Amino acid sequence: MVVVHNGIVENFLELKDELTSEGIVFNSDTDTETIVHLAENHKASGAGFEEAARRTFNQIEGANVVLLMSIEEPDKIIAARIGNAGGVVLGIGENENYLASDIPAILEHTRKVIFLESRQMAVVTRDGIRIETLDGQVVQPEIHTISFDAVSAEKGEYRHFMQKEIHEQVRALTDTLAGRIDFKEGRIRLPELKLTPELAKRIQRIYITACGTAAYAGMVGKYLIEKIARIPVEVVIGSEFRYSDPIVDENTVVLAISQSGETADTLAAMEEGRRKGGILWSIVNAIGSQAMRIADGYIAMQTGPEIGVASTKAFTAPLVDQYMLAILLANMRGAIDEKTRRELVADLRLVPDLAGRVMDTEAEIEKVAHTLKDIRGCLYLGRGINMPIAYEGALKLKEISYIHAEGYPAGEMKHGPIALIDEEMPVLCLAPKDPWHEKMISQIQQAKARGGTVIAVATEGDELVKGMADHVLWIPEAPWMLSPVVTVLPLQMLAYHIATIRGLDVDQPRNLAKSVTVE
Ligand code: AGP
Repeated sequence: MVVVHNGIVENFLELKDELTSEGIVFNSDTDTETIVHLAENHKASGAGFEEAARRTFNQIEGANVVLLMSIEEPDKIIAARIGNAGGVVLGIGENENYLASDIPAILEHTRKVIFLESRQMAVVTRDGIRIETLDGQVVQPEIHTISFDAVSAEKGEYRHFMQKEIHEQVRALTDTLAGRIDFKEGRIRLPELKLTPELAKRIQRIYITACGTAAYAGMVGKYLIEKIARIPVEVVIGSEFRYSDPIVDENTVVLAISQSGETADTLAAMEEGRRKGGILWSIVNAIGSQAMRIADGYIAMQTGPEIGVASTKAFTAPLVDQYMLAILLANMRGAIDEKTRRELVADLRLVPDLAGRVMDTEAEIEKVAHTLKDIRGCLYLGRGINMPIAYEGALKLKEISYIHAEGYPAGEMKHGPIALIDEEMPVLCLAPKDPWHEKMISQIQQAKARGGTVIAVATEGDELVKGMADHVLWIPEAPWMLSPVVTVLPLQMLAYHIATIRGLDVDQPRNLAKSVTVE
């Protein structure tokens, strides 16, 4: 038998023990191999292929998608969807039928599809598709006709998925808040985290571990959790965490942030946290992904699928998710009073509208992008809670325009890197009205004094910055703890337009993958 599997068989260890005790030899320590031995075992005891498959599907627990084939019936594929795992799309062709995880994979062959529901199995041959529930009830499936090219339709009026997803952030930020805020009582609800006051009180340290853009989101989270909940937080990138012999015990949280939930370095970091007895949490976008399933508790980003390789909405959503987490922790630990809690929660109501107002400045940002399209490098400087935004803004430019850019703590410039600044090296300064505003003003002065071109991100009405910077990307005034959600938006659009003007493949930049599932 041959198995195709996506997900985690949560009870595979006991299943494996049973099979091993019956003398079955395993060639790997994967949960996937358990599936195929189970099915073979049922066939060996006299069940036909379909019955063997059904019994197997009923034995495995957890969110899984499984396809089975048997050498004895090579023109048949049996598929099952168990739990809230990824999808199974069945395509109906002429004298042929298809199975795939998503529509775009089969759209060139057929537009007639069936979506397998959870706890259903499908028996597919070239002549037909039969669907049953896992307990054997035949199902008459609904046949959908995809009336348009789903891929281009998914882009809507946008040129690229990245541009669409930048603009989708208004909705995505609304969605990540949905169902989680009681504005009347000023309370936060994150039920999937399974956080209790007892647990909240005994947490002594939080590691945030992630990669790339997700790690920069974690760096903002550090400011939020330390400021609001007064719990020490350390951000360690995934590829370093597992080799750093981290100090983890039963009162340590290891919080992973991952859009795909499948990033190998981040998953490895989670495993290390588990191995050392820590409490495992994750903030994840892909429902049913490994980082969601292996965690003790999680927060779903709820932004909808992110297609563009350069992460945008899956960066801003976790900023808000960590802000909510900080309030929940602080409230359970008695670190904030009711008045403060109500004020912090009330500020969340502003977020979608603030994001929407930045989207309206895209035309201005595109003009600035034209002046920067031929630069060979760029420094991004920020301080405090917006320092991670300097790193994120630089990464956006690097990964889609292939221009070298470096995010740097503004206060560090005088310790060396300021030697880089001249007419050829533009400097992007994050200078919103936050507690570090004044420091950033002097940073702009220093850059200008050395002949640097300064592009500033500044709060509407800031005449001081307007009089100093060569270009200003305006943002609306925002509560400083939520300002990173707003300051990052112009940087996303700036990178997008520079790359587009340079005629590059924004959605699939060279050398990059959307999810780095290898180390
Ligand atoms: C960000 O634009 C990149 N695509 C990359 O840094 C990404 O954030 C990183 O690989 C982590 O991916 P994840 O969130 O799916 O774990």
